[in-house]
Amino acid sequence: MKRKILAVILLLYLLVACAAPSATKAVVRVPTTLRTLAQTHHILLGTAVNMDALQHDAAYASTLAHEFDVVTPENVMKFDAVHPEKDIFTFAKADALVAFAKAHDMQIRGHNLVWYQALPKWIENGSFTRDQLLAIMKDHIFTVVAHYRNQVNIWDVVNEAVTEDGKMQNSIWYRVIGPDYLDWAFRWAHEANPQAHLFYNDYGAEGTNAKSDAIYALVKGMLQRGVPIYGVGLQMHTSILNAPAEQAVIANMQRLAVLGLKVQITEMDVQIQGDTRPMAQRFSVQAHVYSDMLAACLAVKTCEAFVMWGFTDRYTWIPGATKHSDAPLIFDTAYHAKPAYISIIHELKN
Ligand code: XIL
Repeated sequence: MKRKILAVILLLYLLVACAAPSATKAVVRVPTTLRTLAQTHHILLGTAVNMDALQHDAAYASTLAHEFDVVTPENVMKFDAVHPEKDIFTFAKADALVAFAKAHDMQIRGHNLVWYQALPKWIENGSFTRDQLLAIMKDHIFTVVAHYRNQVNIWDVVNEAVTEDGKMQNSIWYRVIGPDYLDWAFRWAHEANPQAHLFYNDYGAEGTNAKSDAIYALVKGMLQRGVPIYGVGLQMHTSILNAPAEQAVIANMQRLAVLGLKVQITEMDVQIQGDTRPMAQRFSVQAHVYSDMLAACLAVKTCEAFVMWGFTDRYTWIPGATKHSDAPLIFDTAYHAKPAYISIIHELKN
């Protein structure tokens, strides 16, 4: 009998407790998503977007719209995609992503203007002189950045210009123009859209090592020459076997902050291949890598964005690039949240 009474009291209490707020004032329930939680920390939470998936997979599009507030075109804004011939620019696919982003109140990370990969044949085989290649680079930057003025306000201007041992990447830009090609690229991007935040973006330079030292020196030099660089993109393509230490990432972000530069994590994914532990354990370690790197970003005021290179294992570039199957992202191939997703939510809630 006593038990029954207690149960009834408990039930009544629960009813009153649940009803009370809505009786006194309207309660707006904000769904817990990555983007809504990230906003409370004033950082952007984003992903690269595969345009074929966006256009053909409804679950992909709805998850994207629900969870993220900044998108990076995975391929459709690259040089070969938008500038396939000397006098031809093709913006249709990139425009479609920009329209999607606008419809869902998302920002766009323009990616990228100057890189040694994704170059069309007419550039690779052009045998241009220094002056000709400079003019081509200027025309490319002016046309693309101006096309998206007022729509794309974050640009990866130069991508991957430094090698893993800290030398300058022997790209066509470096070979034909020389090391000052970076300065010109940033100056012209700034001229084409003075509002845009201009980034140097690279991988394997998240913590402190020879490459991040070289990038630190590179961007410091640019600032001393008055080049309009705004920040450094830390790609964060990593693995459960060799993720950078959180403290090292914080230290690297902080030394860039002292120079006056912002940082964004721009392309995070965490490979699980080459590890013999059971899957569940690997996913748990993967979850920690994601939350540790997010924690680093949240610990440093100048870290503005946490962007992953995709969000579902259904479409990840890793198997194509490594020739091994993998599952480096935060949703599985059926769009179920993996431990990594949960750990990011927890990190954002704390
Ligand atoms: C990758 C894409 O994900 C692939 O689909 C494409 O085949 C090659 O490029 N660093 C970058 C990205 O800055 O542009 C790369 O994207 C991944 C590594």
